[in-house]
Amino acid sequence: MKFNAEKIYRHSFASDNNSGVHPYIMQALFGANSGHVIAYGDDPFTLEAKNIFAGHFGDDVRVYFVMSGTGANTSALYSITRPYNSIICAETAHINVDECNAPGKFSGCRITDIPTEDGKLNVEMIKACIKGRGDVHNSQPGVISITQPTELGTLYSADEIRQICDFAHDNKMLVHMDGARISNAAFALDMPFKEFTRDAGIDVLSFGGTKNGMMFGEAVVFFRDDIATDFEYFQKQSTQLISKMRYISVQFSAFLKNDLWKINAGNANKMAELLADKVSKIEGISIAYPRHTNAVFVYLPKEIISKVIDDFPFYIADDENGIVRWMCSFDTTEEDIRDLLSCIRSQMNK
Ligand SMILES: Cc1ncc(COP(=O)(O)O)c(C=O)c1O
Repeated sequence: MKFNAEKIYRHSFASDNNSGVHPYIMQALFGANSGHVIAYGDDPFTLEAKNIFAGHFGDDVRVYFVMSGTGANTSALYSITRPYNSIICAETAHINVDECNAPGKFSGCRITDIPTEDGKLNVEMIKACIKGRGDVHNSQPGVISITQPTELGTLYSADEIRQICDFAHDNKMLVHMDGARISNAAFALDMPFKEFTRDAGIDVLSFGGTKNGMMFGEAVVFFRDDIATDFEYFQKQSTQLISKMRYISVQFSAFLKNDLWKINAGNANKMAELLADKVSKIEGISIAYPRHTNAVFVYLPKEIISKVIDDFPFYIADDENGIVRWMCSFDTTEEDIRDLLSCIRSQMNK
């Protein structure tokens, strides 16, 4: 999908990556921008951010700041696998379809993807795809990677996550969670981050910030010391060790302090709820997947798509079936939703 690169849109529904930076994050960046500190993370800003993560996840947690979501997934998966492993994930997983196979390339692993109805895996599906354990001719299942919320905007309950983790651990596998939008999940579940990650059995988490009001930066969070020992080398080798680390750390401190993460995710989720509610009342449009977080997937008549997309950019998730994705952000307003809906209504009535 090609959008108009010459235009600054008042609002786009294509991705929460299209939004700007929350003013408090910008202020925090300015606040950290004086004096010299030691590079690569030995600085007071990084210490503070790590302590805040420890407050959320426990004192013994190991936290590393990286530059992008792809970088978080890639460095995390690279560090906890051997090249003869396979990484099991949903067919729709970002690591499977949207990362140019960076996790596969760095880790050397085979990515084994499972088709799903709603982006979610369960134990039965995973069991069915595990073949050739102990057979030298087969790649050996090493990690299950789940995305929370999924790429289709759906959510795992803490119990569903626990079942997957218990199965993985009983079968000598680890579980990675891609939490690029973890704040949206925590808000929707109304749970502390820890309850559906560490307490549910997740071993390593990619914790997102960029999609919820930060400028850039994600965290890799390990809940087990023994699998984190060599992470720094994997981080460096996969180009995810930034020298001016303070500019990620200080953003995370601002993001996690005073519940900015919750305010931002709450707005994005509530705007998506409003959009889903209103759009589902328009005749000829229906919701494609249950809306749990800040993504709304709908069946939109194909002739309408091209008429709306120029003014309100969005992605076509399934061309054949006419499913489009609208993504709300920390800065989406009711007016933005009204404008999108009135554009759709006027096109539908033509
Ligand atoms: C679920 C999920 N994981 C990971 C990423 C990767 O993030 P980045 O684009 O920062 O590499 C994205 C980006 O859209 C995503 O949606």
